[in-house]
Amino acid sequence: MSASRQVLPDADAVARAAAERLVAIAAAKRGTVGVCLSGGSTPKLLYRLLAGPEFRDALPWERLHWFFGDERVGDGKEAGSNRRLAEEAFGDLVPPGHLHPIPTGPTPQACAEAYAAGLRDWYGADRLDPGRPLFDLVLLGLGEDGHTASLFPGKPEAGEEKAWVVAVPEAGLAPFVPRVSLSLPALGATPLILFLVTGAGKRAPLARLDAGEDLPSGRVKAWGETVWLLDQAAAG
Ligand code: 6PG
Repeated sequence: MSASRQVLPDADAVARAAAERLVAIAAAKRGTVGVCLSGGSTPKLLYRLLAGPEFRDALPWERLHWFFGDERVGDGKEAGSNRRLAEEAFGDLVPPGHLHPIPTGPTPQACAEAYAAGLRDWYGADRLDPGRPLFDLVLLGLGEDGHTASLFPGKPEAGEEKAWVVAVPEAGLAPFVPRVSLSLPALGATPLILFLVTGAGKRAPLARLDAGEDLPSGRVKAWGETVWLLDQAAAG
């Protein structure tokens, strides 16, 4: 387990660095490649890059499977927005059955249980084997309050140590809609986590992490490498 930080000139460079890591991971592996996507707006640049002329043909879309680290659920307009972000960017590059969205619906608990069942099917077991990761790559963002996925400071879900997926009835930051999130054990079950952190708004949570504050984003540890990709604006 190791953690490192890379400061890049701007958000485009952060997206490019993540795209290049994904290409390398997919090239180095035979068979399926499981990628866990983060939500929010930061990944938009990366998704557009992956689906664009520079990277589209470098990726084995027929071997890639896309999962989500969290989702806005319930039945409001925000529900499913993380899925829509990926669908709109990737379009028909993703073969049918290769995008695994978190179900949305009136009860976050039912959505969480359904997604956990889907992850167990994907993994082929209901307990994580330290020799076999759940994902080949996990992408995460950093909220201005220090959350990641939908694991918020001061909320109980970040303390989940067994379940792979948790219901988050009360988000700790806007949009204050019910969420479903992968838990720390599930998010960490990968050789590589890439945090994509861009913009001056992320200086404050980064400073809190640097000061040693116990925040959910600081608790996430990959089985392998956890790399923070920051742009200059976020790094300060
Ligand atoms: C979500 C995300 C969340 C996000 C951070 C950063 O559903 O909102 O998963 O954890 O990654 O809040 O969001 P931005 O990229 O929009 O700053």
